[in-house]
Amino acid sequence: MKKLFIKDLKEKQRVDTTLLVTRKTLSVSKAGKPYLALKLMDSTGELDARVWDNAESIAEGFSLDDVVRVKGSALAYQGKMQLNLGNIKAVSDGEYTLRDYLPASERDPQEMMAELDALIADMKDPFIKGLLTDMLGDGSELRARFMQAPAAKMMHHPYLGGLLEHVLSLCGLGVAVSGHYKNLNKDLLVAGLILHDIGKVFELTYERSFGYSDEGRLIGHITIGTELVDSYMKKIPGFPEELRMQLKHLLLSHHGTLEYGSPKRPKTLEALVLSYLDDLDAKVNAAETIMADPAGEERWSPYQRIFERYIYKKRYRYEDGGGEAALSELPESNDEAVFNGKADASLKADASGKADASPEPSVENERISGKDQEGSASGQTPEFDLFK
Ligand SMILES: [Fe+2]
Ligand SMILES: [Fe+2]
Repeated sequence: MKKLFIKDLKEKQRVDTTLLVTRKTLSVSKAGKPYLALKLMDSTGELDARVWDNAESIAEGFSLDDVVRVKGSALAYQGKMQLNLGNIKAVSDGEYTLRDYLPASERDPQEMMAELDALIADMKDPFIKGLLTDMLGDGSELRARFMQAPAAKMMHHPYLGGLLEHVLSLCGLGVAVSGHYKNLNKDLLVAGLILHDIGKVFELTYERSFGYSDEGRLIGHITIGTELVDSYMKKIPGFPEELRMQLKHLLLSHHGTLEYGSPKRPKTLEALVLSYLDDLDAKVNAAETIMADPAGEERWSPYQRIFERYIYKKRYRYEDGGGEAALSELPESNDEAVFNGKADASLKADASGKADASPEPSVENERISGKDQEGSASGQTPEFDLFK
């Protein structure tokens, strides 16, 4: 059976396809009848689904994180596609390719890794180069995980290969900025950019639907990454103490402020630049994903909790005759960070839907990372450090 992908669903279509279960809740309707509320995904998107009949017995036939065969119909609800399902059955392992169900970078991971290898090969500082080769070079333990990890669960680069894509984008910025501000130590800055989120390879889970590991929730990627890098530095004979301290500082301070999870604020030139570039890259990627999403009005996105504002989707380009095209309508070549249908930006807003109804806040908070931290009232899974 040829798989029907979420991006190709049409309203009122009869659906018989396979999807990954990312949320499963058995609830009771106002009339007292049990129903199943599901979130289902594949590599092209995510949507809500409901089972209204025989919900309890159908719920017994599959678990969270299963790939399931679903039968039912598609309908548009509040501008988004939803499924009403009559039947759901787990598909056994081996009958599907997991990559069809998880969003992945449009860039080839091998090609991206080759770019990273070239950046490392180009470094002058033997200790920095040695450290990066030990950690991420051919045959290293971390290499495969680094190539596969998403950069975040939801907020930016939330797809397989997203971490590597984020890192390469940052390195491009880092090299350019080092050419401009001559006092920057380019190798140190680029090493910090490559390693700053390395703890995410263990903080996040991405074998099935994306989530946080226990280690991620208890320790977090800043500490995981700093300990990891420190353990590798300790194995290199003669590794300079000053470099060790400054490199650790880059990781510890990269979220910029204590409020956003960094135990130290940036106090070196490279650390300041790293935290600004990281913030820039994460926000640009998130904004582009929102702008490419047809959800919301033609020119305005739905309210974006992560930015605490609506995003204007119309873009001005002289070549387009006055900028009539929204980002979602522009050709793919426009920007490689535009993932057509890859990520449903509306899902990055509050899944409860309350975000859409929120008024434009009068005070704009420019710094958005870590807004929804553990213990927040959003009712979602506690996620420390959502944005970074
Ligand atoms: Fe980052
Ligand atoms: Fe981070």
